[in-house]
Amino acid sequence: MYRSPYGPYGPDAPSGLAVEAYGMVKRYGEHTALDGVDLAVREGAVLGVLGPNGAGKTTLVRILSTLARADGGTARVGGFNVRDQPDEVRRAIGVTGQYASVDEQLSGFENLYMIGRLLDMSRRKARIRATDLLERFSLTEAAARRVGTYSGGMRRRLDLAAGMVGRPQVLFLDEPTTGLDPHTRNEVWDEVAALAREGTAVLLTTQYMEEAERLADELTVIDHGRVIARGSIDELKAQVGTDTLQIRPLHPADLAPMLSCLHTAGIGGAWIDEDEGQIVVTAADEKQLSGVLRALGTAGFDVSALTAHRPSLDDVFLVLTGHEEGNAHQRPYEYQEPDPYQEPGPFLDPQEDAAVPPAPSPRPPRRTPAAHLRHTGTLVRRNLLHMKADPSSLLDSVLMPAMFTVLFVYVFGGAIAGSRGDYIQYMIPGLLGILSLMLATSVSTGMNTDFRTGLMDRFRTMPISPMSVLAARLISETVRSLLSLSVLLNFGMVLGLRVLSGPLTVLAMDGLIVLFGMAMVWVSVLVGMTMRSAQAAQALSGVVAVPLQFGSSIFAPVSTMPDWLVSFTHYNPLSALADACRELINAKPAGESMLTVLLWSCGLTVVAAPLAMARFRRRT
Ligand SMILES: Nc1ncnc2c1ncn2[C@@H]1O[C@H](COP(=O)(O)OP(=O)(O)OP(=O)(O)O)[C@@H](O)[C@H]1O
Ligand SMILES: [Mg+2]
Repeated sequence: MYRSPYGPYGPDAPSGLAVEAYGMVKRYGEHTALDGVDLAVREGAVLGVLGPNGAGKTTLVRILSTLARADGGTARVGGFNVRDQPDEVRRAIGVTGQYASVDEQLSGFENLYMIGRLLDMSRRKARIRATDLLERFSLTEAAARRVGTYSGGMRRRLDLAAGMVGRPQVLFLDEPTTGLDPHTRNEVWDEVAALAREGTAVLLTTQYMEEAERLADELTVIDHGRVIARGSIDELKAQVGTDTLQIRPLHPADLAPMLSCLHTAGIGGAWIDEDEGQIVVTAADEKQLSGVLRALGTAGFDVSALTAHRPSLDDVFLVLTGHEEGNAHQRPYEYQEPDPYQEPGPFLDPQEDAAVPPAPSPRPPRRTPAAHLRHTGTLVRRNLLHMKADPSSLLDSVLMPAMFTVLFVYVFGGAIAGSRGDYIQYMIPGLLGILSLMLATSVSTGMNTDFRTGLMDRFRTMPISPMSVLAARLISETVRSLLSLSVLLNFGMVLGLRVLSGPLTVLAMDGLIVLFGMAMVWVSVLVGMTMRSAQAAQALSGVVAVPLQFGSSIFAPVSTMPDWLVSFTHYNPLSALADACRELINAKPAGESMLTVLLWSCGLTVVAAPLAMARFRRRT
């Protein structure tokens, strides 16, 4: 027999397991959220992970779904190691986290369709699957409506549907029905059960015993980051207490004769509950219960009430965790892990005949460039749909440049360069450089919003490259900044700007702005992901962007500035960009400033891009 050094269920043992986790540890500073959790979900089975608030359920789901990294232990999902093969794991899973992570700006249909496309379904398949899931979760009527207008329960249902789009091999559901009404809860249960019947293994965390009873084949109870009990529902109930039968005689005087009748019939565990005026029989099994009824019937006793009581999972939960209303007090029950070689764990099949370790699971094919393009295209479409759903968000791309032009031309126009006409020719081309900063800011704001709404977590549990997410942002925001650019140029021309160069030169200028903008995107993405809040990121961007803009040659020539500012302005990359734009529009030689912009763009990208990507991929 194959013997793993870890015991029969160790990390290299053969298994029919969809999820297996051994000794998972997760610390947050001093606090230990998971303290050596082992669990397993058989293929096609539903494991309920039960635990009070703060037990570590969400932490566990985040680790198993590749969002967080464990500090200890190993885990395999779908046969792949969650730490070393996150991409493979992501292909096998669907996730619905504790908090809804859907795109509020898109409709319900567009959300599910987008996920289908990101999971490499054809357009037709994605459409059919989205329609089908909306139907199953009673969202058909709201399918075309923006999710922002959905009720909490509708959003939750959509989020659950989103986790199921790819018919995953393993589905993680973190408290799937919290906050749902009883009818909706039943609907969700039906869907989860249906998916499990189709062969999906489900790991479901819950605080509802009814949910666990309804769905779970096996349970693992955790508390304070440790497993305190596991087994089938019946096994857990048996650990807590047995079934009881309460018999109330029609005539109270019959109590004592009834008890002796039961004793005569050889039924043990019966006693008189004087307070309630009834006989209580603690019965180990159904056979014993029917023996009781037969004995009393034969003796001809009249009975006024008969109640059978099975311990509920609520009883189990309370006894095991010693919690009431989430308050921890003494733990009355100590769970003892069975010796793996003596007694098979209740949730694992012993692999008696397995003589060799399993063949490693086949690696799924690598993503092709075409797949990356498709993902990026899908996400660009999503961002453009945002603009369509909320056209007022485009106002600042249009109004800001127009306002800037008018204000600067009329406020500073005459004062700075002697004549307004000269100033227009000087300032407006320089102003184009600012668009690169606007591009960077809008990309990082968009990314930040996706992080905050949890949508980024959904993307990060899917088999798509983070580059696709970023590239899509970049492309759609570039579209937006090209819109601003054309407003600025056209508006400038209305005010008297003369574009002396040809269309090709203008195109080269666009390219330069976007290139420098992209370099700044890396910087601002890095800032956006490093700062704790969107406000902090915005504040920092402001602190950087304002001196960069005003301490440049955008609004006034460097020669007019005091000495202490000159060197800053001279080396400020925005000066080079403004100069380049100015020279290009005025048909002057622009080689030197263009080269400077190129060098700055490359330099910033080389430094900031790897840092930003590492930050993006990091799992905490
Ligand atoms: N990012 C974090 N930083 C610090 N502590 C954290 C972090 N995430 C979780 N914790 C802590 O880890 C413990 C487990 O949290 P977790 O969210 O996993 O609990 P849970 O079982 O999902 O609870 P609930 O039922 O309330 O959702 C908690 O004490 C929590 O405060
Ligand atoms: Mg939780």
